[in-house]
Formats: sequence, C-alpha cells, structure tokens
Amino acid sequence: MRTYNSTAALKPALAAFRGQAQTIAFVPTMGNLHEGHLDLVRKARTLCDIVVVSVFVNPLQFGPNEDLDAYPRTLLADKEKLFAEGVQVLFAPGVNDVYPQGMDAQTLVHVPELGDTLCGSRRPGHFDGVTTVVSKLFNMVQPDVALFGEKDFQQLSIVRKMVTDLCMPIEIIGVVTTRDEDGLAKSSRNGYLSLQHRRIAPTLNQTLNECREAIACGFDNFLQLESHARLRLLQAGFETDYFTVRDARTLKAVTDSTEEVAILAAARLGETRLIDNVRLVLNPISDWGMLADGR
Ligand code: PAF
Repeated sequence: MRTYNSTAALKPALAAFRGQAQTIAFVPTMGNLHEGHLDLVRKARTLCDIVVVSVFVNPLQFGPNEDLDAYPRTLLADKEKLFAEGVQVLFAPGVNDVYPQGMDAQTLVHVPELGDTLCGSRRPGHFDGVTTVVSKLFNMVQPDVALFGEKDFQQLSIVRKMVTDLCMPIEIIGVVTTRDEDGLAKSSRNGYLSLQHRRIAPTLNQTLNECREAIACGFDNFLQLESHARLRLLQAGFETDYFTVRDARTLKAVTDSTEEVAILAAARLGETRLIDNVRLVLNPISDWGMLADGR
C-alpha cells in the first residue's frame, strides 16, 4: 500500500493505474476506521482493480460548536487496517492541500432540499462542507466508483443527487449499515459513549425497527408513530433531534406515490449524537394495509 499526502503526488500514481486500464474504486473517510469502513473497502475490492481510501478530517463540515478538535485521529492504526484489507492507495492530505486558499472564500457545493432537511437543518453548513470536500476528492482521485455507507442515508442521497446534477462520471454505491450484535450502527462516535450510554444506545435501532414493523403491519398514522418513538427514546435517556418517517427518495413527507419509506433518527446520549435509519419498500399493488417487507 502506498500513502500519498498531497494531490501532486497522488495524481501521477493514479494516472499510471489508469494508463494500464485499471479501474479505481474510492472510499472517502475521516479515519478512525471501524468495521463499517472496512465493509466499504471489501465491497470496493469486488468492484474495481484499485482501491483508494482517503483519510481526511474535513474542517468545513464541522460547525463552530462541534467536535472537530476532539475528532479521533488514528492514522497509524487506520493504515494497518487498510493494509490488511489489501488497499493499494491511501490518500491522507493535509488541510492546506485540500484548502490551499483557506476555507473562507471556498467555492461551495450546495444540494438544495435534500441538503436542507433533517441533519441539514440541525447542522447548518454541514452538508455543504460534505459535498464540497467530496467534489474536491472526486476531482483529485477521479474514481470510476465511490462507496458510501447507508448509515448516513441523507449524505448518500445528497451525494447521489450531486453526482447526477453535476454530471460527474462516477457510480455511487451505497453499502448496507454494519452493526454491532445488539443492533447499534458502527460509528466513529460510538467510542465517545460512556458504558451506561453504550448499554442504552441500541434502543435507537430497536425503536426504528418497531416503527418499521408497525408500518409493515399497516399502521399509517406516522405522526403517532413518531411521537410514540420520541417518547420511548426520551424514557430510555435520549434527547431526540428528529425521529421521522419520510419518502426514501425525496426525504420529504410520504405521499401516495412513495415507493419506499425511510425512517430516520438522530438522537443524543450526553454529548454524543447518534444517527440511524431503516427502510421499507412499499408494495405497489396494495394500499397502506398491505406493505411488502423490504428488508
Ligand atoms: O462520511 C464521512 O466520513 C464524511 O462525511 C466524508 C464523506 C468522508 C466527507 O468528509
């Protein structure tokens, strides 16, 4: 595995692979790698000849009161994990390499609507930071395929839309959320949880699944489901940012033409903000009383 810390060094190396007609899969990360990231890498290896992983903690996607400084930087351990998975290229640029002119006058990529709701409205500027850095990384790496986890379902939807709207010649692959045995979605932020909070944390996924089961059984009063879920999370010790049933394609309210429902949640345990989602494909030939199980 070769590590590159600058775009200038990365570009000729990737051009050489392309010159040999080798395809490139790209997994962008902020490091502190866990099984969820490694599942993206494993999937990437099945799709292309060369796997490029970036490790870059992107300051542009953190709000002023968020955990940028505290975000775990574990490059040495990350390198070992990527090497063990057979990754050929690690790209670990510095902030000056990604933002040589600083961030104040940086051109931003904004995906309206999808980027303004849910986490977008609670974390102003967050998704502009994500889409801007992902665009830059796409231009630096020029991959054939890029992989993102479904745990950040809103991020995945936004990146898909950006790639379509801006005619980027990259195939976006969503990879199923990797979970601990008790259902907690793998996340770099799980490491912040106290022992007590770690015991409570799987309630988030349990509550999402209960809501999903209720919809699959024909219960279509979403407001009631959402408020029941928020109460359950409150009683467990969470502070809920949102718990909501949406159209999985638009992330807007469910309508008669909704084909797939996404149930999305963000909730805090102490200082740690967890997100998760589950989805359900609706049976097109039946009404709300008969829903197909899309798990
Ligand atoms: O999902 C993440 O880790 C980040 O948002 C990403 C896509 C690497 C952009 O910084």
